[in-house]
Amino acid sequence: MNRKKILITGGAGFIGSHVVRLFVTSYPNYDIYNLDALTYAGNLENLKDVEQASNYNFVKADITDASDLNKLFKLYNFDSVIHLAAESHVDRSIEDPLSFAKTNVLGTINLLESFKMYSDFKKGLFYHISTDEVYGTLGETGLFKENTSYDPNSPYAASKASSDHFVRAYGETYGLPFVISNCSNNYGSFQFPEKLIPLFINNIINLKPLPVYGDGNYTRDWLFVVDHAKAIDTVFHKAKIGETYNIGGHNEWKNIDLVKLLCSKMNKHLNRAAGESEKLITFVKDRPGHDLRYAIDASKIERELGWKPSLTFDSGLEKTIAWYLENETWLNHLTSGKYQEYYDGQYK
Ligand code: NAD
Ligand code: TYD
Repeated sequence: MNRKKILITGGAGFIGSHVVRLFVTSYPNYDIYNLDALTYAGNLENLKDVEQASNYNFVKADITDASDLNKLFKLYNFDSVIHLAAESHVDRSIEDPLSFAKTNVLGTINLLESFKMYSDFKKGLFYHISTDEVYGTLGETGLFKENTSYDPNSPYAASKASSDHFVRAYGETYGLPFVISNCSNNYGSFQFPEKLIPLFINNIINLKPLPVYGDGNYTRDWLFVVDHAKAIDTVFHKAKIGETYNIGGHNEWKNIDLVKLLCSKMNKHLNRAAGESEKLITFVKDRPGHDLRYAIDASKIERELGWKPSLTFDSGLEKTIAWYLENETWLNHLTSGKYQEYYDGQYK
C-alpha cells in the first residue's frame, strides 16, 4: 500500500505536539515527519511518548532556510503539509516584529515554494494553521465569521494574516490545493509558560505576582488543545479545498474572571486557604494595541464537517492544572535560564 508522507511543521511546539501525537497514533499508515527548528518554544520532551513509533520521524530544520527546505522536499517528496511552525507570542512580537515576519511570512512562503517545486502538489494539500487574531478586535458583541474582514492589530496578527494571504494566493495563482483554519486561544498540556494560563499556573505554584494587563476586562474564547488537534484532523481529512474554517470553544472569558477561577481551583489543588492565590493578582501596565475581545462563530465547521468541542471548560482546566502539577520537572526545565531573562524583560 502507498504510505502517505505527511509533513507537520512546528510539531515540537504546544499545539503541534498534540497534532503529531494524534496523527502518529491514529494513522499508522501515514509516515509523519515533524519538522521543527527547536526554538525556545520547541521541545522534544513534548513528544517522548511517540518518539519510538515506527511512523514518526523528526527533522530539525528552520523554515527560514529555503535551500534546506528544498533539499528536504526533494529527498522526501511529501504528499501533504500541515503548517504550524511559527513565532506565536503577541508580547514577543511587540518587542521583535522582524523575527515574526521572517518565520511566519517568509518561512511560510519558503514552504509553499518547496511544496510547489518538489512535490506532486496538485494531488496533496497545504493546510495552514492560523489564528482568529487576523480579524482584529470585536466590541462587546458580535462573532468572527469566516468572511469577517482581516484587520490585524499586533505584529503577530499581521504576520499570520500575511501568511494566510500568501497561502490563498498560491491557491489562486498556481492551483495549490489549500485549506486554512483560524482558531481561538488554546490551553492545555505542554503550553509554554509565556501564555496566560500556564504562566499564571506557574506563578501561583511559586507564589509570584499574577500580572494582569490593564484592568483585566479583555475577553478571549478558550479551546482545549486536544479539541483543536481533533479539529485539525477533521479539516485535514474532510475540508473542501480552498476553504477557511473558524474553530472555537463557545467559551468566552474576561481575563480577570478567568484568573479568579484559576486561583480558586489552584487553592484547592495546593491545599491553600480560599482567597490566598487571589492575593497575588497584580494589575500591570497594559499591552500596547491590546485587542478587546475575540469570539468565534464556529458553526461552519460544526455544520459542514461535524466537529465540535468535546470538553467543558471546567474539565479542561482541571485536566490542565493537574498536568502542570504532575509535570513540574517539565516546567522547571523551561523556566530556568533564558526564560528568566525574557520574564524580567517583559514584567520589569
Ligand atoms: P508554539 O510557539 O508553542 O510552537 C511553535 C513551534 O514552531 C515550536 O516548536 C518552534 O520550535 C517552531 N518554530 C518556530 N520557528 C520556526 C522556524 N523558523 N522553523 C521551524 N520551526 C519553527 O506555538 P503554538 O501555540 O503551538 O502555535 C502553533 C500554531 O498555531 C502557530 O502557527 C500559531 O499561530 C497557531 N495558533 C496558535 C494558537 C494558540 O492559542 N496557541 C491559536 C490559534 C492558532
Ligand atoms: P495570551 O495568552 O498572550 O494570548 P493572546 O494574546 O494571543 O490572546 O494572552 C491572553 C490574554 O491574557 C490577553 O488578553 C493578554 C492577557 N495577559 C495578561 O493579562 N497578562 C499576561 O501576563 C499575559 C501573558 C497575558
